[in-house]
Amino acid sequence: MNNKVNDYDSFAEKRHYKVTHGLMKSLRFSEKPMMESMLPNIEGKSILLVGCGTAEECELLSKYKPKKIIGIDLSEKSIEIAKKSYPNYEFYVGNMLSLPFSSNEFDFIYSSLAITHVKDKDKVFKEMYKVLKNDGVVLFSASHPMRFSTEEINYNNKLYHVIGFEGGDGINLLGGYLSHKKQINIFKDDQVLEEFIAPPSYYFELLINNGFFVENFKESKCIEECKNIDEALLY
Ligand SMILES: C[S@@+](CC[C@H](N)C(=O)[O-])C[C@H]1O[C@@H](n2cnc3c(N)ncnc32)[C@H](O)[C@@H]1O
Repeated sequence: MNNKVNDYDSFAEKRHYKVTHGLMKSLRFSEKPMMESMLPNIEGKSILLVGCGTAEECELLSKYKPKKIIGIDLSEKSIEIAKKSYPNYEFYVGNMLSLPFSSNEFDFIYSSLAITHVKDKDKVFKEMYKVLKNDGVVLFSASHPMRFSTEEINYNNKLYHVIGFEGGDGINLLGGYLSHKKQINIFKDDQVLEEFIAPPSYYFELLINNGFFVENFKESKCIEECKNIDEALLY
């Protein structure tokens, strides 16, 4: 297996199909409903999507009648699909580590599951702060570290689940979740994603140090609808 890491270009078409057909269960039943439940009033507001990918988030946000939406993402193929799918909005290939916008340009920044791919989160928050108006709001989501807090290891031909500690007196258990660290995930379809996961406290500290006020925080859970069996989702 030698697939490229974070190769969103190769998976853009497939991801767009899966998201628009409700086939990404964790997004449909957990992350997106949580994001919607935390939206501020965005009617008539200027919105920046950071790490928008193929930008299906426009469907959710456009319901609330914003003035404009601009999306930015590293993946050229994703931006190409976004432009075709949502022609009323603007999309650019770009890096969240250097947002190509003026100071005080946006009322609202929405960033779903993207900052988790970036190691230098401090720089991302600095960039967001710069392009946001004084009373602006950022809403973002990131992988929860508990997702990676247990791992199966083979020790003397026996499988164990390990959780919790890092370092210590000779025992180096995998899967600690209180630090900011690299995590590689290999999915069934061979997509390889690299994330830099961190506990909520890590995000809070960075946000506060960069001048933000933390107004709300949620850990997502599945909505009731996920209990209705849909055969298309049983893969
Ligand atoms: C899991 S996808 C999320 C896409 C979309 N926000 C959604 O929720 O469906 C993560 C996206 O972050 C983008 N990304 C990763 N690092 C980035 C960076 N430094 N600057 C801009 N986009 C980045 C990837 O190209 C990818 O499209």
